Amino acid sequence: MCGIVGYVGQKDCTKILLDSLSKLEYRGYDSAGVAVVQNGKLVTKKNKGRLSGLEEKMDKEGWLKGTCGIGHTRWATHGEPSDINSHPHGNANITIVHNGIIENYKKIKDFLESKGYEFASQTDTETVAKLLDYYYNGDPRETITRAISEIEGSYALGILFKDFPNEIFAVRKDSPLIVGVGDGESFIASDVPAIIKYTKNYYLLEENEIADLKADKITFCDIHGMSVQKELHTANWDMEAAEKGGYEHFMLKEIHEQPNAIKMTVSPRIVDGMPDFSESGISRELLNSFNRIFIVACGTAMYAGTVGKYVIERLARIPVTVDVASEFRYRNPILTDKDLVILVSQSGETADTLASLRLAKKIGATTMSIVNVKGSSIARESDYVIYSHAGPEISVASTKAYMVQISIFYLLAFELAYSNDIITKDECRRLVSVLQTVPDKIEEVLKDKDEVSHIASQLMSTENLFYIGRGLDYALSMEGSLKLKEISYIHSEAYAAGELKHGPISLINDDMPVIAVATQRELFDKTISNVKEVKARGAKVILVTHSSMSVDEEAVDFVIGLPTIDDMLMPMIAAVPLQLIAYYTSVLKGNDVDKPRNLAKSVTVE
Ligand code: AGP
Repeated sequence: MCGIVGYVGQKDCTKILLDSLSKLEYRGYDSAGVAVVQNGKLVTKKNKGRLSGLEEKMDKEGWLKGTCGIGHTRWATHGEPSDINSHPHGNANITIVHNGIIENYKKIKDFLESKGYEFASQTDTETVAKLLDYYYNGDPRETITRAISEIEGSYALGILFKDFPNEIFAVRKDSPLIVGVGDGESFIASDVPAIIKYTKNYYLLEENEIADLKADKITFCDIHGMSVQKELHTANWDMEAAEKGGYEHFMLKEIHEQPNAIKMTVSPRIVDGMPDFSESGISRELLNSFNRIFIVACGTAMYAGTVGKYVIERLARIPVTVDVASEFRYRNPILTDKDLVILVSQSGETADTLASLRLAKKIGATTMSIVNVKGSSIARESDYVIYSHAGPEISVASTKAYMVQISIFYLLAFELAYSNDIITKDECRRLVSVLQTVPDKIEEVLKDKDEVSHIASQLMSTENLFYIGRGLDYALSMEGSLKLKEISYIHSEAYAAGELKHGPISLINDDMPVIAVATQRELFDKTISNVKEVKARGAKVILVTHSSMSVDEEAVDFVIGLPTIDDMLMPMIAAVPLQLIAYYTSVLKGNDVDKPRNLAKSVTVE
């Protein structure tokens, strides 16, 4: 989704703005722009396409010069990607960048048109810029307060006023924005990676707080104009974590970071060999008090929740429902105060997941979130938050966030099973110790990545593909299929292996490869029967299973043999070759692996 940056300091800011925007490219965008106070005037350069295109434009037309400016990468919602629809928007007096959606923009636009305003773009953002201009009375805070009182929807806004040439103003609602504190310089940004090169210190802007940034002073006030004192946060990771570190793509780097990410996430939650969530304020008694669990999330986070469902139900015998957040929020869910709703989100800002959280709280359920980005909206608004410690995930295709999310679900399942007296303390300790061996097993899988790359080369000209599996293998197949389609653009579907015969087997022919995941030994023979059925109809079959399993060579074309661990934990191992298949297929097809078309890293609109 859109990315916002802003700089006010002593340095020439255009290069800094572009550099910071480049750190937000991972969020997905289709156009970019900057506005700088140049010799007392607000000057804007923007265009459709990548940041490099904007640089080329400035190489030709001249770089903007100034020490105060704002920048934006746009992911189109209202109006096609075009130069004119790119941000910043405004006029000679006020210029803004915006992330979010203004739901009542049409009404505002009609009103402003009736007052003589003209609009150049099709965007909702331009109405906010003109609304600010309409209400401008010489006092930026009063003007912003007046304008936002009329806006419905979500927004993070960076605002320049010509009359305040050395200041940036910012405000947000339902879209993230941070305020960075440097040495004689201040920043705004959608996310920490944008400014980590310049400062690790930042404030989290709260809903409808207005920030006024000068080079050496930042002040905050609420909508009543009352000053607000805020806690300064310090990022506990550095530039290197936000760089590729020698890997060709962030996705490959992040796949390799998984062993460490699991250790960082799991280790602090083990005390005396047992799971321990007391750091999050979650006691054994609390976990014992729920009748049902709902897991609500989007995309990969939802598929992590699907693994969570299988594991919690199997071990702890508590009914778990997994919901797509965009459905949950509108299906009038039946919840009580004996229900636990777990929201899962890497970014902590996904609009539908956030709305689901608010709904669950309103109905009276207890909410708990599994979130990667510290201080994000979902983390802050949940009753309990369990932070995953994956570090920054830059690639749009989520890999390490998925891995740490499922590792938390395993720990939760162990804890729930123990606290509900279903497993003994010894068994719980044994399961925890097996979980701790996962990072080494993943390292083993990564050593064989060239083999996976060879298999990917067999898939690159495929147009359609099936993933099949049973039980946990089916849960994992859904994530494997999502990963492949989002970055390789190959259409794929994940099917419960036993369900194929009820329809989709009619699609199987020699143009339809099948990736069969069969790591659950009690279901192995059944899945192999399904493999034989598709093989008999011409499908090329890639089987992902334990390396120790003996496989009928006639039934498959390729086998990816995995190191063995308890079957229940196999999704953590088997996820890796599925991630690698998607990665290499995308690379071989020449796709933009880290920034796949049409996708955004953080989906802050519904
Ligand atoms: C993952 O590869 C996807 N890009 C996407 O499905 C993602 O998992 C989803 O948008 C949820 O994001 P979140 O974890 O930040 O809430």
